[in-house]
Amino acid sequence: MDRERKLFLLIILLFQVLLVAAQTSNIDDFKGLTGLTENWNQKPPNWVGSDPCGSNWEGIRCENSRIISIKLSSMKLSGTLSSEIQSISELEILDLSFNMGFTGRIPDEIGNLKNLNTLILVGCRFFGIIPASIGNLKQLTFLALNANQFSGEIPSTIGNLSNIQWLDLSDNQLQGSIPVSDDNGPGLDLLHTAKHFHFGNNRLSGPVPAKLFSSNMNLIHVIFDNNRLNGSIPSSLGLVTSLEVVRFDRNQMIGQVPNISTLGKLTELYLSNNNLNGSLPDLSGLSLIYVDLSNNSFNASEIPPWASTLQYMTTLNLGNTRLQGNIPVSLFSLPNLESVVLRDNQLTGDLDIGSSYSSNLQTVDVEDNQISDFSQTNSQISKAVLLFGNPICLETGARAQSYCQERQSNLSYSTSPNNCSPLLCISNKLSSPNCKCAYPYTGTLISRALSISNFANKSYYVEIEQTLMSTFRSQNLPVDSVSLSNPFKNSSTDYFQLTVSFFPPQQDLFNRTGVSTIAFVLVNQIYDAPEFFSPYFFIGDDYQYYAGEPSKNSTNAGVIAGAVAGVFVFLVIAVLAGIYAFRQKKRAQTAMDRNPFVNWEQNKDSGAAPQLKGARWFSFEELKKYTNNFSDANNIGSGGYGKVYRGVLSNGELVAIKRAGQGSLQGSVEFKTEIELLSRVHHKNLVSLVGFCFEKGEQMLVYEYIANGTLMDSLQGKSGIMLDWIKRLKIALGSAKGLAYLHEHANPPIIHRDVKSNNILLDDRLNAKVSDFGLSKLLVDSERSHVTTQVKGTMGYLDPEYYMTQQLTEKSDVYSFGVLLLELITGRRPIEQGKFIVREVVRVMDRSKDLYNLQEILDSTIIKTTPKGLEKLVDLALSCVKEYAAERPSMAEVVKEIESIMELAGLNPTSESATTTETFEDASGSHPYGKEDFNYSGVYPSAKLEPQ
Ligand SMILES: *[C@@H]1O[C@H](CO)[C@@H](O)[C@H](O)[C@H]1NC(C)=O
Ligand SMILES: *[C@@H]1O[C@H](CO)[C@@H](O)[C@H](O)[C@H]1NC(C)=O
Ligand SMILES: *[C@@H]1O[C@H](CO)[C@@H](O)[C@H](O)[C@H]1NC(C)=O
Ligand SMILES: *[C@@H]1O[C@H](CO)[C@@H](O)[C@H](O)[C@H]1NC(C)=O
Ligand SMILES: *[C@@H]1O[C@H](CO)[C@@H](O)[C@H](O)[C@H]1NC(C)=O
Repeated sequence: MDRERKLFLLIILLFQVLLVAAQTSNIDDFKGLTGLTENWNQKPPNWVGSDPCGSNWEGIRCENSRIISIKLSSMKLSGTLSSEIQSISELEILDLSFNMGFTGRIPDEIGNLKNLNTLILVGCRFFGIIPASIGNLKQLTFLALNANQFSGEIPSTIGNLSNIQWLDLSDNQLQGSIPVSDDNGPGLDLLHTAKHFHFGNNRLSGPVPAKLFSSNMNLIHVIFDNNRLNGSIPSSLGLVTSLEVVRFDRNQMIGQVPNISTLGKLTELYLSNNNLNGSLPDLSGLSLIYVDLSNNSFNASEIPPWASTLQYMTTLNLGNTRLQGNIPVSLFSLPNLESVVLRDNQLTGDLDIGSSYSSNLQTVDVEDNQISDFSQTNSQISKAVLLFGNPICLETGARAQSYCQERQSNLSYSTSPNNCSPLLCISNKLSSPNCKCAYPYTGTLISRALSISNFANKSYYVEIEQTLMSTFRSQNLPVDSVSLSNPFKNSSTDYFQLTVSFFPPQQDLFNRTGVSTIAFVLVNQIYDAPEFFSPYFFIGDDYQYYAGEPSKNSTNAGVIAGAVAGVFVFLVIAVLAGIYAFRQKKRAQTAMDRNPFVNWEQNKDSGAAPQLKGARWFSFEELKKYTNNFSDANNIGSGGYGKVYRGVLSNGELVAIKRAGQGSLQGSVEFKTEIELLSRVHHKNLVSLVGFCFEKGEQMLVYEYIANGTLMDSLQGKSGIMLDWIKRLKIALGSAKGLAYLHEHANPPIIHRDVKSNNILLDDRLNAKVSDFGLSKLLVDSERSHVTTQVKGTMGYLDPEYYMTQQLTEKSDVYSFGVLLLELITGRRPIEQGKFIVREVVRVMDRSKDLYNLQEILDSTIIKTTPKGLEKLVDLALSCVKEYAAERPSMAEVVKEIESIMELAGLNPTSESATTTETFEDASGSHPYGKEDFNYSGVYPSAKLEPQ
């Protein structure tokens, strides 16, 4: 017996030795990769064994047995980037772009990757600060962290990246000032090799330091649009003579535009939507193609003479810049002119386009001026001209003219088939430009500075198609064809986007390597886009089809063995599923009397059932898939009702799925009533319902996923978000509005019953959203008189009157809200070390003293500035927690009071809420580069059916 055992162990040992010997991968790299990917979901299926280099793991590339490159774009991966990354010590390229399931922080240990030259994390959900250790990556030439949720300041150590060429931190939530070097450390001004500074769509503030620019710089793109920069444009900008694109639009910049006549290569200048003053800058002699100075406070002037001299110019926007006088006819004879926008000025006289205008002239927007005459018989030009809001359009007869109508330009383009007849494809395949049915890899290509305006000119699109294809050919990348569609210019960012579809050759789908290589060509800027489209960036979608890895018709033994195994597994699963279904059915039958949704089911495919406003029906299987079988990794919370899971829908949208536990199941009719109600509840300060599942004895509610987590996490410093006084006031107002809506506008009214900082979520703009009113009790008439038998709520927030009388009213929420306000003010939990926050505040408070003498218990973050209106907010909080419900204000009154406190603090509450609504809806509805579902059906009227 003993000998046998020894022999057995020996064989095992031998086997291991052989394994290690056969292995061509460095063991530390393998361990590092294993550790790194331990918590990842959806890893490539060929990642088996222990030899990533020897067995060609998808996405991994090695040299001399060391892993040097990890490229995993668009692989539907989820997980985090752990400190294990440092173990893969020879790594040169790391690209994890377009995996919306990647979240968490960048670990400090990233700084130990001494050979890293390319770091790409575009389009994931990473958050937190960018670690200062990133400055240690001396070899880094390409850093793209755009389109994530990074916050905090730009680490000044980035100034140590002495080889960097591409630096893109756009589309995050970075704040603070632009770091420049000083005695204390490095700054961006030291980046002499950098060609691209892309910092748009953040929250950077303060002035643009003059030191940032010098004649040592080699920048070609300086892009800072959509931040909160103030101060003036430094004249040192004129020293960077390599500049081609400058964007400072959509900030709060003041002062005069400096003399930039030295920038001989400058083609695109975006300075709109600031508070620039002084006279309009003199741009004569420059090679500008695109000029936008609109919406600034320049001195009143005539249209400057240089405007008619810029021979390359396609686009001139001087809207709302206090122009007066006549429009010179010479302006329209510029040979390349496509669009002139002069709206919202005081221009007078006769609009004369002349006869030698550019054949590309597409738009002459002179709306809202004082133009009194326009005579043009050419119909092309008549169509281009917009004169709505001018005296000429008040004349009888003129109103009917097309140039007096308000118009929206509607872009459209879709790549035409390549001398072939498109097919009508089945199973969600699409017909390629070469008329083959296949599953394309799709994404959105976005130009950060489009320099053309004639979107009707197909040659621009064709040029993008052709240059893309020639890049793929030169890279030896198998792509059959490229199709573009859905052109869209976002007027609130001036970004221009296109949906792009890449079709596979031969087979009808790509493998993982195919997809991630295409993505890398775009995200690493290997594709050199036409000038008019540069700089661009790409956001790839998930690729739907390799996930199932449908079987190919090849017949080797492995496949057959696999198939046999597959059949066996299938049988086992089928048997298990049968047992499961039987059990579920039994369970379901006890959980519900009958299914009240049956009459909805027919409508499942045609979208929402008629009773639902926007809420979708999900099957249990779908939700199971979206949450990776309700895995623990996706569990983001739990409570009395059950658990909450994070899920990723097939379109990439993140959702929070609330799964009722056995004890919380409602009767089916009640559940239906609740969904009908919730789907009608829409308010910007309430988390909205995306859909629900009612199947197999399960009751689940699917909500939108809110990026920045709970208010409690932020108050406890767990989210990395600093909540200053103003932000706290806005959060208080938002939460109050959400609750007021539930009480007063929901029909029937809803009492939340569990208002607490854990149930207030913060979206990516820190708008408050009340959550978890889903399984709350509806305030139906029977409730008003009835005594509920079970008091629900959370200790510390619980209304004492409700607790004693068990009589639930809206005022119980008001009480909890009062506790929440105190939490916002003090940063303390309602009950901390046995002390109740309400009592503590009352104990320390002295109304005769400054800040009511509360300094010692105020949150240290808010005490750094003068919290204007603090006393009033304390008064309000204490009125909310009055012992008798009747003495407490209603939520509507609370809203009014917070609004008046905000005015006291120098904020305009209505404009605050107006802008937050807008940006919120923008963010949720269509992200600046959000992809709209595109559908080819109907595009090709003469489609034939795909031959099978
Ligand atoms: C950055 O570079 C400076 C010298 O230029 C050096 O003193 C400093 O330690 C470096 N910091 C980091 C984080 O590498
Ligand atoms: C610019 O903004 C900062 C805060 O972000 C502020 O302290 C400063 O006063 C502002 N400067 C100007 C000129 O408005
Ligand atoms: C701008 O600077 C150039 C020389 O650098 C000078 O010739 C020109 O007159 C200046 N323009 C203005 C408007 O001051
Ligand atoms: C422009 O604005 C700045 C700051 O707001 C002010 O100091 C300056 O006087 C203004 N200049 C002109 C010409 O209006
Ligand atoms: C993926 O597809 C490409 C060509 O389409 C092929 O060369 C490559 O071997 C495939 N990779 C794997 C791991 O199947």
